[in-house]
Amino acid sequence: MTFDDLKAKSQAELDELFKASPAGPIPNGDAQGQAIVCPGSFWSRLIARFVHALAWQGKVFDAEHGVLRNRISAFGLNAIVATVYKGPSWLDQKECIVIDYSKTSTVAQWIRDEIREIEPGTYLGACAEYCGTQHTLMLLRIVAEPPDQFARWVEQQRQAAAELPSDSVAAAGRRVFLGTVCMTCHTVAGTDAKGRLGPDLTHLMSRATIGAGAAPNTRESLLSWVRNPDNLKHGSLMPAMQIDEKYLHQLVEYLLTLR
Ligand code: HEC
Repeated sequence: MTFDDLKAKSQAELDELFKASPAGPIPNGDAQGQAIVCPGSFWSRLIARFVHALAWQGKVFDAEHGVLRNRISAFGLNAIVATVYKGPSWLDQKECIVIDYSKTSTVAQWIRDEIREIEPGTYLGACAEYCGTQHTLMLLRIVAEPPDQFARWVEQQRQAAAELPSDSVAAAGRRVFLGTVCMTCHTVAGTDAKGRLGPDLTHLMSRATIGAGAAPNTRESLLSWVRNPDNLKHGSLMPAMQIDEKYLHQLVEYLLTLR
């Protein structure tokens, strides 16, 4: 099953898929950003709510010791630790992999996530604690990949955003992006945008969904989102900025180039 298949599913269908799947083996190893948790997931919300200065960094699973460490730059690496074990789901009481922060972290002690393997290497999960207005819209996807494939992905994610021809609509959109508040909250590597409150947008279009699974990552969703995030996700921490429709379209043309 690809991300495209997943993104076509409704929240109810995803819940069904989660219920129908076995727990699977606990994932093991190092991962950054999207390979483990789609940026903008429950985790970004936690950061956005409690520790504004932090970056989206990713998580490290350690199956042998049954722990997961979250990489958060402001505290140094591996600051928040969760215990990882198999246990009954709060959704249907059947076995799942539980990511539990209750005993290991004072910052995140009310957070608990549950994941299950929906096919070899791909896990689907849900944040199982109330931690924001859009509690039900916090989709978690975890993809375990062979090391070389993962290394290629990391390499790609480290690249700065591509230069654009200066006469294109997208280049106009980039000027809007860099000339307005967008850049105070978002990072686009290779530009002056270094904001940390919102997710890194350097490779926005490599994601299947936006807003932690709130909507598929398409031109229409992006237009709707930037016009007013509340259209897709009530209570989002990104404000509606009343952007003129002309500039809005330029902005979205630019976002679409962030591959
Ligand atoms: C006050 C901070 C702030 C400003 C200003 C801001 N954003 Fe955001 N943005 C966020 C936050 C926080 C999220 C994550 C929201 C969520 O998932 O609920 C987000 C999410 C997004 C997303 C979806 C990314 C994803 O992976 O889910 C896009 C696209 C985006 N912003 C574009 C923009 C653009 C374009 C502008 C300027 C017009 C802008 N943002 C201005 C805070 C901001």
